[in-house]
Amino acid sequence: MEKNCSRKSRVLPLFRLLLVTLALLCLAPLALVVGVRAQSKATDPGVRPGPPAAGKFFSTLSKEQSALGPLFTQDFNNIFGVTATETGHLGLGPVYNSDECELCHSQPAAGGASTFVNQALLVYNADGATNTVPYFELSAGAMQNSRFPQQLGNLSLPDGLDHQVFTITGRADAGSCDIAQPDFSEAQSENDIEFRVPPPMFGDGLMEIIQEKDILSNQSAQCAEEASTGICGTPNYASDGSIGRFGWKAQNRSALIFVSEALTGEMGVTDEAFPNEGNETPGCVINALPEDHSNFISVPPADFPGTPERLALFVRFLAPPTPAPPNSATLNGQNQFNAVGCNICHSSPSPVQFVTPTAAISALSDQNVNIFSDLLVHHMGNCLADGVTQGAAAGDMFRTAPLWGVGQRVFFMHDGRTTDIVQAVEDHSDTYCAQGYGGSVLSGYQNSEADTVINSFNALSLTNQQDLIDFLRSL
Ligand code: HEC
Ligand code: HEC
Repeated sequence: MEKNCSRKSRVLPLFRLLLVTLALLCLAPLALVVGVRAQSKATDPGVRPGPPAAGKFFSTLSKEQSALGPLFTQDFNNIFGVTATETGHLGLGPVYNSDECELCHSQPAAGGASTFVNQALLVYNADGATNTVPYFELSAGAMQNSRFPQQLGNLSLPDGLDHQVFTITGRADAGSCDIAQPDFSEAQSENDIEFRVPPPMFGDGLMEIIQEKDILSNQSAQCAEEASTGICGTPNYASDGSIGRFGWKAQNRSALIFVSEALTGEMGVTDEAFPNEGNETPGCVINALPEDHSNFISVPPADFPGTPERLALFVRFLAPPTPAPPNSATLNGQNQFNAVGCNICHSSPSPVQFVTPTAAISALSDQNVNIFSDLLVHHMGNCLADGVTQGAAAGDMFRTAPLWGVGQRVFFMHDGRTTDIVQAVEDHSDTYCAQGYGGSVLSGYQNSEADTVINSFNALSLTNQQDLIDFLRSL
């Protein structure tokens, strides 16, 4: 019986589609007349078309800084091999997620987020590597970093670390190195796997030098209203006690440390901040450590000191995204955004405008930072929770994602679970959060701090909701 039905539905898909469309066309005016509010949802117009509105360096860099820009961009585009034989740049692996920064950070331009095409599919077998593509790297999905909240095979112990997806085993330049990929299917069957997608880094130089006192005074004002809003974020702190800004949980304080970690963590290229390999299987530590290091041969300053310093300057030179010019709909959308309280967390320019202090790179001095984030971490509910603790950010806490540039972004939220910006807004609240990403839903965490705001968003008229969404896509 069931078989018959499913065969029938496969034979007549077009016909069925036609019927459904006709039915919807007939019912739509009815729904409007009777005012069926639950059916009326704003729609995401999708990635804003046109040329990339991000990816350029500040136009106010000095002549000397501008002259070095292309060198730093080149570093971001370098493809790494295990030895220098294949690509001219050595250090890949033994375990890695990708062989190039830009593969993960390219939407809508170098320095950005994940594109429509999952780049993992380009690197898994590069140069003869024998990796298989794990179940979660989908061709139409974002490139994913994977973390196991608990230790695989010993679920009572916390883990939380990034487990690189690929190994160099089988590559022509990997010698006899033989390491297996992590058992992602086991992690999946034990519900012990969570994902992170690459966030963009445009404007991160400004984000890096916002002063702590400004973040803290905004936090005090926010928390003073907690009784009525339910919202009171907290800073995450780095190991030296300073306030973290980078990463989905604001777990990292500086551009330099983040890119050093990315070099080792994402690509396995050891550097002067992190000089040991992530996997030390005999036969797999192939080069002198650290593989990237200060260059004592070339003439300073261009090639000196190491790649992380140059990549950190690449990050700092990148100007923030330029929003589309406002129109009456997006202006109303911004008012609605503030009226329902999105701006309590995504706070810029109202109620707070971060302004950078005087900076050594003068392009970064005295800038209004339209970041749409308080740079605090918040409790976001069971549906978003990933069970990974990083510093002060518990398993359900995330940094208010900066919204500058979301107009041209493809994947949203820390695990890239949706490409629909309306769904991303609904996902702030357990009540409306849809599990479209195949991950596990955790339990036991408190309600999302955003619950009241998301209820207010859902209570807006369809026009106001749509204007708010159009405003987001204008950023
Ligand atoms: C395999 C994909 C991948 C590669 C390759 C990669 N990244 Fe990332 N990047 C990520 C992910 C995922 C995050 C978020 C990490 C987190 O929060 O746990 C991230 C975050 C960042 C951030 C922080 C942005 C912010 O505002 O929070 C910076 C800066 C960055 N990466 C720079 C780099 C650089 C430089 C390279 C090359 C050395 C690189 N990345 C290579 C996936 C990648
Ligand atoms: C309690 C604080 C809070 C409130 C209120 C809030 N947000 Fe967020 N928002 C967050 C956090 C935290 C994230 C990141 C979630 C994650 O990493 O999975 C986020 C992510 C987003 C994203 C996805 C950005 C990205 O980089 O993927 C969008 C879009 C967004 N919020 C829009 C809104 C809108 C619109 C409202 C108001 C209706 C709103 N938010 C209210 C905290 C908040």
